[in-house]
Amino acid sequence: MSQREIVQRNYDKQASTYVTRKHLQTANLNRLLNILFTQPQVPLEGTLLDVGCGDGILLDVLMARFPALPYRYQGIDLSPEMIRIAQELHRTPGCFDVCDAENLPFEDDSQDLVISNSVFHWLNVPEQGITPEAAIREVSRILRKDGKFALSIAGFGTTMRFLKAYRNVMDRLIANGKLMDNTFYRSDPIGSMNLHTAVNMLLSSDFRIDFAHLEYEPVIYESPLKFAEVVEAYGYDVFLNLVLESEKPDVWCSIVKEFEHSLQAGTYVHDQYMIYVVATRK
Ligand SMILES: C[S@@+](CC[C@H](N)C(=O)[O-])C[C@H]1O[C@@H](n2cnc3c(N)ncnc32)[C@H](O)[C@@H]1O
Repeated sequence: MSQREIVQRNYDKQASTYVTRKHLQTANLNRLLNILFTQPQVPLEGTLLDVGCGDGILLDVLMARFPALPYRYQGIDLSPEMIRIAQELHRTPGCFDVCDAENLPFEDDSQDLVISNSVFHWLNVPEQGITPEAAIREVSRILRKDGKFALSIAGFGTTMRFLKAYRNVMDRLIANGKLMDNTFYRSDPIGSMNLHTAVNMLLSSDFRIDFAHLEYEPVIYESPLKFAEVVEAYGYDVFLNLVLESEKPDVWCSIVKEFEHSLQAGTYVHDQYMIYVVATRK
């Protein structure tokens, strides 16, 4: 299965739970917009493309910010189920479409603003030579000169303690010959990136960087279990992609147990690192 298929399947299956557990992404989105709207010369009207729009939360947040939405908004997402939910929630026919960030059905220089919240790490599989570069070039193609691109990406270091538990369980499965294909094993299925990698990709795709920060944004959960529920809603099928369907529930249980046992009881501080970038199309 290709990375596209894995991610699409993940979000198709998780869509209904994702929409009730997206507080992390909503906070990231608000932070990204606060950064964007304090940059100089941000287009305040015209066309706006939301890449990896999910359930269309950006449209809601923008409508709450602007009394009359000054943009012609369009959201695209790889997951048909996410798009179905976005259409159902917004009842704005034509605003949401299924498509891949690497192949955007828009004319060259046609967009004034592109926003993408918490998406581009899903296009980052360095172990298989897959990077978000093709999608960044696509955004560069459709943005007009001086158009802006604002994006947030999971930063390297995110969720290390959960990843450690995941790796311990995967190591045991690999040792026992239980994975479907060891060659596709990934030690970080989220695809978190370094800041300089993200910046270099934008620089080599005709962008100028206005703002680029890696921020540590710890989030407190009532317990490790509550955090594990959020990871489950976010990436169950991505994490378990190499596990037989019938064994997924047990394997997930083992990862969560391993994670809980590695920690003290009580509240859990999620180690979240986020990259925020605003770039201008040269
Ligand atoms: C963490 S969710 C973020 C959704 C939304 N931007 C938000 O702020 O809630 C990531 C989204 O990216 C979408 N996605 C992942 N890879 C994609 C691709 N290649 N093209 C378009 N969308 C993609 C997923 O389907 C999912 O809806």
